[in-house]
Amino acid sequence: MKSDTTAESAAADGTSAARKVFVKTYGCQMNVYDSQRMADSLALEGYAETSSMQEADFVLLNTCHIREKAAEKVYSELGRVRAVKAERAGRGLETIVGVAGCVAQAEGREILRRESAVDLVIGPQTYHRLPGALRRALDGHRIVETDYAVEDKFDHLPKPGRAGIAARGVTAFLTVQEGCDKFCTFCVVPYTRGSEVSRPVAQIVAEAERLAGAGVRELTLLGQNVNAWHGEGPDGNEWGLGRLLFRLAELPGILRLRYTTSHPRDMSEDLIAAHRDLDVLMPYLHLPVQAGSDRVLKSMNRRHTAADYLRLVERIRKARPDIAMSGDFIVGFPGETEADFQLTLDLVRDVGYAQAFSFKYSPRPGTPGAERSDQVGEGEKNDRLPRLQALLARQQRDFAQQLVGRTVGVLIEKPGRAGQRVGRSPWLQPVIVDESVGGFGEIVDVRVNKAGQQSLFAEPVA
Ligand code: 5AD
Ligand code: SF4
Repeated sequence: MKSDTTAESAAADGTSAARKVFVKTYGCQMNVYDSQRMADSLALEGYAETSSMQEADFVLLNTCHIREKAAEKVYSELGRVRAVKAERAGRGLETIVGVAGCVAQAEGREILRRESAVDLVIGPQTYHRLPGALRRALDGHRIVETDYAVEDKFDHLPKPGRAGIAARGVTAFLTVQEGCDKFCTFCVVPYTRGSEVSRPVAQIVAEAERLAGAGVRELTLLGQNVNAWHGEGPDGNEWGLGRLLFRLAELPGILRLRYTTSHPRDMSEDLIAAHRDLDVLMPYLHLPVQAGSDRVLKSMNRRHTAADYLRLVERIRKARPDIAMSGDFIVGFPGETEADFQLTLDLVRDVGYAQAFSFKYSPRPGTPGAERSDQVGEGEKNDRLPRLQALLARQQRDFAQQLVGRTVGVLIEKPGRAGQRVGRSPWLQPVIVDESVGGFGEIVDVRVNKAGQQSLFAEPVA
């Protein structure tokens, strides 16, 4: 079922002896996908992946710029990388250090200035040029590649699932859309990932087919604004994400589909119909709302009200009653008062989330929110965030708890401890099954016995 061709064997058929690359990924799932594509392209150059930085000839940090701490973590990690590079140099070993991702895009040359150990800076739109950039770095140049490439990087990156590239299990990400034109006033993404671009239908279907052929059973379609995806279908009509999901659901081997992240403004009728009609589309929706106050939503440029969002959730739940909602929240956006914050808590109580992510507002240089003079104090942010998180944690616990005693389908992903199996529920919860039932990539029915903090515990149903 799985291809056993590894990076080493790719090196054996012609390219240089196996050098090693260590990739560390920060941030969102798209970065995970990008890291895999970069590792794939390096595998074809003879680089094997290692989980030890000390062993690596090439250390690559794939960074995130979404919040303050994300970038700061990268700079402190680079300090550690510098020490490893020096230690390796003492052993007579050369180390190339690269920074990719959204910090690379946003900071560019500044990274070379601030951190002498860095040889190469590469932005998300130029990943297909990584092997060339690495070769030039090995020749002693310091490289910055942050232009928006004119060529389509997906045409030039190695195809996931093809020979010479290691299979990575039964679930996979597939980027279908990148960038964002929404310009929420808190968000750096339109600046780091550029404007919205959709990959063509044929390219997506071909990638999905190859992944299914390599043993993938669950596909998660990715985009910063995934439900804004659109493209011309083989029927000559303009397709939206809903139509694309119908097409991917037909592929042999694909048992589950998911997508993330969505904007409320782009939840089209077609997409809601897909939730109603497609069994393989999992009943889980990550639909960030950010805040519950219309005044704050307006100043965030979200272009919907709290009532719009609640009506939308109602429509989606009518189409798919067992759907679990997930969301993102920001506390302490400029101008947010305690009364505004209470409206966020009200909205959370109205919706009832199965899962959620919440953050203190972090001013991002270059975004309109950062320019405002009515920034909320750190003290207020620190007061609000735990109150919101306590409510969300309670909801997440309640959601897991109501599954106890019920039978659910679990996609078996990997072995667990002592003969157990680990998989996921339709609602994305990790499930630990206490017997080794089912092969990897199969969906088995299990009865949930217990809901833990992070996982469900279950036994097979006879
Ligand atoms: N500050 C805090 N949180 C942010 N997010 C995006 N930008 C910021 C910011 N400047 C959060 C949003 C988004 C998630 C990916 O990160 O909630 O949905
Ligand atoms: Fe972070 Fe956004 Fe870049 Fe993902 S796209 S890595 S969340 S800044």
